[in-house]
Amino acid sequence: MTDREQELRRLAAESTAEKKDLAASDPHRQRYHQMPTAGLLNDPNGWVQWKGTYHLFFQWNPFQPDHSQKFWGHWTSKDLVHWTEHEPALVPSEWYEKNGCYSGSGFEKDGKLHLLYTGNVKDAEGNRESYQCLAVSTDGRTFEKQGPVVNTLPAGYTAHFRDPKVWEEDGTYYFVIGAQTEQETGQVLLYRSEDAHTWTFAGPLAGSHLNGLGAFGYMWECPDAFHLNGTDVLVVSPQGLDSEGNRFQNVYQAGYFLGTIDKEMPSFDHGAFHELDEGFDFYAPQTTEDELGRRILVGWMGVPDSDEAYQPTVAYEWVHCMTIPRELQVTNGRLIQRPVDELKTLRSGDPLEMRMQLSFGQEIAVTPAAEIDIDCSAANRIELELRSEMTLSWDKDTGELTLQRPSFRDGSTETRSCTVPELHHLQLFLDHSSVEVFVNGGEAVLTSRYFPHPQHNVVAAGGDGTVVWTSWELRKEE
Ligand code: FRU
Repeated sequence: MTDREQELRRLAAESTAEKKDLAASDPHRQRYHQMPTAGLLNDPNGWVQWKGTYHLFFQWNPFQPDHSQKFWGHWTSKDLVHWTEHEPALVPSEWYEKNGCYSGSGFEKDGKLHLLYTGNVKDAEGNRESYQCLAVSTDGRTFEKQGPVVNTLPAGYTAHFRDPKVWEEDGTYYFVIGAQTEQETGQVLLYRSEDAHTWTFAGPLAGSHLNGLGAFGYMWECPDAFHLNGTDVLVVSPQGLDSEGNRFQNVYQAGYFLGTIDKEMPSFDHGAFHELDEGFDFYAPQTTEDELGRRILVGWMGVPDSDEAYQPTVAYEWVHCMTIPRELQVTNGRLIQRPVDELKTLRSGDPLEMRMQLSFGQEIAVTPAAEIDIDCSAANRIELELRSEMTLSWDKDTGELTLQRPSFRDGSTETRSCTVPELHHLQLFLDHSSVEVFVNGGEAVLTSRYFPHPQHNVVAAGGDGTVVWTSWELRKEE
């Protein structure tokens, strides 16, 4: 380990030790979502099950709740519910990553856990360089850096070239990577390799003005390509889309295309772009296939450049968390996302079960961490006020499902909506400062942070028609 690495590790450990009690005292600390001990978390990285253990890494600034530094934090889990934090896997100590160990992926090769990530370098004028770097571990704890394995930009592209996501197929390794052309259009490029060390640029796979797609943003971040239920899927986070009605309401989007990838050309014959999440806070998701053959997605419950400095947790020296893990399926040309089954083990005690006449209006006591399952098939209109801070409403006449919360910046009401012509089912995961709403068994998801008063623990339900309500407190037994 270099002196610089030792120094950065020591500083990070000191800073975390100093801030962790303050962070832990925050009433908005989550109960069952993954969050940093202190500092800022953004993208999930290196998401993989290796030798039976899930490894989830994350973009982490251990020093303060802003983006000034990027380490890779590291958690492991056997069951997707209980997680152990480890020493940071990567710290930005070397010349090729001095301004951040940016996002990347994890994969197995020769029995070893490999990480391919972007080394971000900026000079005094803010000029950027990007290196795709390899680090290898035999114990799943310490990572030996092998330095850049891709150190040149392909011709015609800017240095916005990052977030490689690797997979192996029939003995060949591939990665997709986010890129920007010199004309400032967003693309995903494909690379291939026989040994995961020497990589060849195969060409652009998809992007703005490719495969029949029109103008579609100035940069595509965090791509992920995989095969699921007979189709190819490209998940990507494009930047620079203008909002169109309900669509693209956040400053940056995260979504997917379905179709057929031709790795030789390369090209991707794909359909329309669909957002993965209709809530306020979701970006840069990453998936992995686990040993049970499930395709599991984890996302960052945040969006870049979105009022994060106004989140009340910043005063407690931390900000952001991950979503719960979601299992993906492709059904009828759409990705369906469902909370992984393991989360049922969080249900504590007997459920509260009742049939409710919505027109009477009703207040139901909930715990700040709860799962609420609502059969809505006999409702025409439903309005749920969650802990006096957020409303979720649906109206059969408009076919709109709407989420509203006070903005973190100035308290004015913010809205996100999506079209749900028929609503049969809602599944809500509440934690101390987040809500994840799964609609109709995962046809749509709305993910958002909110910061209710810790003593406000009521859901007020109103509307027209009846619903069947089942709720559980969620608790993590250590
Ligand atoms: C997405 C992103 C990535 C980058 C990382 C840096 O949120 O901007 O493109 O690798 O965050 O933290």
